Amino acid sequence: MAFSTLAAFACTIAVAVAQTPFVNQTTCNSKTYTYQELAGYGLVPGTARDEFGDTIGGIGSSIALDRSQWKKLSNGSYTGVIWTLPDRGWNTEGTTNYQPRVHKFDILFTPQPDATVANPSGNNLIFTYKESIRFYGPDGTPCTGLDADATGHLSYPGFPDLPVATYIGDGFGNPGPGGKRISVDAEALVLNPDGSFWVGDEYGPYIYRFDPQGIMTTAIRPPDAIIPMRNGSESFSADSPPTYVNGGAGDDVTPADNPTGRDNNHGFEGLTVSGDGKTMYTLLQAATNQEGGLKSKTETYTRLLKYDITDPTKPRYAREYVVPLPHWVDPTAKASKNPKTASQSDIFHIQNDQFFILARDSGAGHGQPSSTSIYRHIDVFDLAGATDIKGPVYDCANCSMASLDGVLNAGIVPATYCSFLDFNVNSQLQRFGVHNGGAQDSGLLNEKWESIGMVPVDGLVGDDDEWFVFSLSDNDFVTQDGAFEGGAFTYKDASGFSLDNQALVFKIHLPDHSRPFNRDS
Ligand SMILES: *[C@@H]1O[C@H](CO)[C@@H](O)[C@H](O)[C@H]1NC(C)=O
Ligand SMILES: *[C@@H]1O[C@H](CO)[C@@H](O)[C@H](O)[C@H]1NC(C)=O
Ligand SMILES: *[C@@H]1O[C@H](CO)[C@@H](O)[C@H](O)[C@H]1NC(C)=O
Ligand SMILES: *[C@@H]1O[C@H](CO)[C@@H](O)[C@H](O)[C@H]1NC(C)=O
Repeated sequence: MAFSTLAAFACTIAVAVAQTPFVNQTTCNSKTYTYQELAGYGLVPGTARDEFGDTIGGIGSSIALDRSQWKKLSNGSYTGVIWTLPDRGWNTEGTTNYQPRVHKFDILFTPQPDATVANPSGNNLIFTYKESIRFYGPDGTPCTGLDADATGHLSYPGFPDLPVATYIGDGFGNPGPGGKRISVDAEALVLNPDGSFWVGDEYGPYIYRFDPQGIMTTAIRPPDAIIPMRNGSESFSADSPPTYVNGGAGDDVTPADNPTGRDNNHGFEGLTVSGDGKTMYTLLQAATNQEGGLKSKTETYTRLLKYDITDPTKPRYAREYVVPLPHWVDPTAKASKNPKTASQSDIFHIQNDQFFILARDSGAGHGQPSSTSIYRHIDVFDLAGATDIKGPVYDCANCSMASLDGVLNAGIVPATYCSFLDFNVNSQLQRFGVHNGGAQDSGLLNEKWESIGMVPVDGLVGDDDEWFVFSLSDNDFVTQDGAFEGGAFTYKDASGFSLDNQALVFKIHLPDHSRPFNRDS
């Protein structure tokens, strides 16, 4: 009797030693989050084309998993439909007249919990391209990825001033009639049950709602403090000249940096809707320029806007909070430039006041000067106790809640920020044959991880609080075999690199009874 008890005890110890129960855990305002393990890896090749013959790139700028399509099969695999958002098209050598769009893929995911570093799994997340929806303005004119004009806008009844690009030829450098189109740099995506969807943009920066055919039906203009201003007037240019002018080199606006409002290419990267569908939140990538946004070291305090979307045709601006972004030390930068801010690329509402946030470094990854990323996390922030700064004191043009040096005004309590899930844990990555740091090969993670999507492990509603978190990278359309306009415009990225659209799946445990999809929460 005593012998068998001892044997059972020893056996329990052995199991505990052999299996690390989790990779990491964090507790944020008494809610505990657990990163259990990396559960999957997959990719869409950088050379893939969509139904229009255009390069499928940049698809990790944002993602959304269709909740109605996610299914757990009896053989242990899962199937689903993922919507992916490329941003404004290939833009490493200037902007083009690429029509912004979303792509839909079928996914087949087969967890491989037994994968080890010594015996890694092959790719277990398989993408099959389905279709794309291209974006059009309220009158049916295609939208464009081209930089917005330095001044001016388009007007439609019931819409705020919309950023406009005036282009010549076909907007790719070939002959054509020229024209004016709404500039959209799409970086954030949320699906609605009726097939319409919300998109966060970087030019306005605005939030747009598109119908299932891709026609713009609603535009949300944020408070004036976030609108880019030059010479005292709104100026939506992001200083990203067209490719057809000097290969995109130089500036297309003066001053290049708008002194106030969102920084160039630092728009609404974060967008999420509560499980009940009634509340939308959007987070600016980093500080506005009057609040420290011009320097990585000082762009720490950024603004989160809350909208009541009970009537999605009439979003109501409800509250505003400050979120403090984390810092990282760039080993290649001078001490005076460190620490840098890890700007954010996506958010996801978990429950009540708590959210996931994807914050990361830049300049490290496949095709970058450094292969070792220092900070690439999904972290948690909590709004409990944070100050609501909505109102004329902080929202007027040139109003600021922090100094030009990024020091938060006295009396404002920002959100609580809790570090959580590190993408760069090589003992997990290597279980799927990929890595952070080391050789510049196809297994090296890309630089730009920009999306968070969540689905329950039970294939139902996640009553057991076990979830898969999907994240895709933005490959910036970097390929040596690129094409737009069905092949009328072709390119080879000057970097010489070809980057796949990489995807990771993390298995996590949320705080008890989180239920982020709960429609009655
Ligand atoms: C683990 O989590 C802690 C917070 O609980 C965080 O500070 C740390 O960066 C995480 N480390 C890794 C390797 O994930
Ligand atoms: C489970 O079934 C699906 C659908 O038939 C198939 O595509 C998938 O490969 C299967 N998974 C396994 C692990 O056999
Ligand atoms: C701002 O004013 C300067 C000087 O007059 C001018 O060169 C520049 O084009 C103006 N920029 C905008 C966006 O109006
Ligand atoms: C706007 O803010 C900038 C930066 O803080 C400051 O230099 C400038 O004087 C302000 N302009 C006005 C009109 O208040």
